[in-house]
Amino acid sequence: MTHPRIGLWFIGARGGVATTATLGLLALEQGHVEPTGLVTALSPFASLDLVPWRNFVIGGHDVRCCRMADTALTLAQSRALPQVLLDKCWDAFNQIESNISLGVLFNSGPAIERLVDGEPDRGTARQLIHSIQKDLRAFARDEELARVVVVNVASTEPPGDAEQLPGRWADLDKLLDCDDCPLQASSLYAIAALDLGMAYINFTPSAGASLPAIQELATLRETCHAGRDGKTGETLLKSVLAPMFAARNLDVLSWVGHNIFGNMDGQILDHPANKSAKIVGKDQLLGQILGYDPQTLVTIEYIRSLGDWKTAWDHIHFRGFLGTPMTMQFTWQGCDSLLAAPLVLDLVRLVELSRRCGETGVLRHLGGFFKQPLGLDEASFWRQTELLEAWAKSHLS
Ligand SMILES: NC(=O)c1ccc[n+]([C@@H]2O[C@H](COP(=O)([O-])OP(=O)(O)OC[C@H]3O[C@@H](n4cnc5c(N)ncnc54)[C@H](O)[C@@H]3O)[C@@H](O)[C@H]2O)c1
Repeated sequence: MTHPRIGLWFIGARGGVATTATLGLLALEQGHVEPTGLVTALSPFASLDLVPWRNFVIGGHDVRCCRMADTALTLAQSRALPQVLLDKCWDAFNQIESNISLGVLFNSGPAIERLVDGEPDRGTARQLIHSIQKDLRAFARDEELARVVVVNVASTEPPGDAEQLPGRWADLDKLLDCDDCPLQASSLYAIAALDLGMAYINFTPSAGASLPAIQELATLRETCHAGRDGKTGETLLKSVLAPMFAARNLDVLSWVGHNIFGNMDGQILDHPANKSAKIVGKDQLLGQILGYDPQTLVTIEYIRSLGDWKTAWDHIHFRGFLGTPMTMQFTWQGCDSLLAAPLVLDLVRLVELSRRCGETGVLRHLGGFFKQPLGLDEASFWRQTELLEAWAKSHLS
């Protein structure tokens, strides 16, 4: 099938994940790399009618005034991105800069506000949503796009007051004009995109579209969304290994995970409020998979010299036959942005297909890509993979 041009709009466009996903997309499009790490390159997904890489047009919002290319150079200097690939894609990469607009910071908290030199946003939540929508509409119009998929890869916000917010869209809508509207920037972006009928993906732990009223908006506007917080490393291993302990009736007594890394995401997560938003998602799946809550500890520490390289050490203490305690330990060393970028690209293609097929509301079958899968109680990676494969098989033409 011939495909139209599709917009890929990054919130946090000058960050590590967006930059790496962009370089990856250009490199795939120009045939410089193999699709290693991409789930959509595997059967049965490769047989789906997915949008080819060359049909994507990239744009986005960021609140910092550097260039995406500056981020790419920093990643190349720390050996996260191959410089040779950057050289090959340099011109195409720099052209994207004209599609990046200034984003909004509304209630993002002091850690994120410190990233920005300029003045804070002025205006009500509704005015800021309108300004985001103006940028999204201009992008779709100027680039002659059939559809736009919006992906949140911005810095992690501190937890908001979700419990205090109304559960229905009609009631939340009224709050958008109040001076003390408690919504955070991630949710304003989600409202802006969904209200325009665009699909939305939340790759971060921030609230985004997870609030019930915003999920209702997605259904009302007959569009779809997926989230929350990409599952790329240590939590991915937890969702793979915990089902093994459960299936062998091994009693997990405690699970301790220490994480260290040194990129800008790590710098933001060094702030206790922002860190607490991340830790929830790294911890809650164990109880769901095991059926009981072992003692757990998750730490995340910012070690600047590591740059984009992340190390996780996990220590799992469990009891086997005759009650004898035993231990499993693992070390996971990965490059943060390179683990996340292929997932983002997979998600964009899969969500675009769902949007094209008229699927609305939360896309449960994509839950395996996330630490806190919206709309899905199943936390085992294997069951999540079965669900995704079943969805794909039902979409083969
Ligand atoms: N790398 C991974 O493996 C991984 C896994 C799961 C989730 N995530 C999440 O993805 C997000 C991005 O990670 P990263 O490593 O690219 O972080 P990063 O710090 O490199 O980039 C974040 C970008 O967002 C921008 N930003 C912050 N607030 C914004 C706002 N309100 N509007 C627009 N832009 C804003 C920043 O200026 C920055 O350019 C983080 O929330 C992270 O926790 C990453």
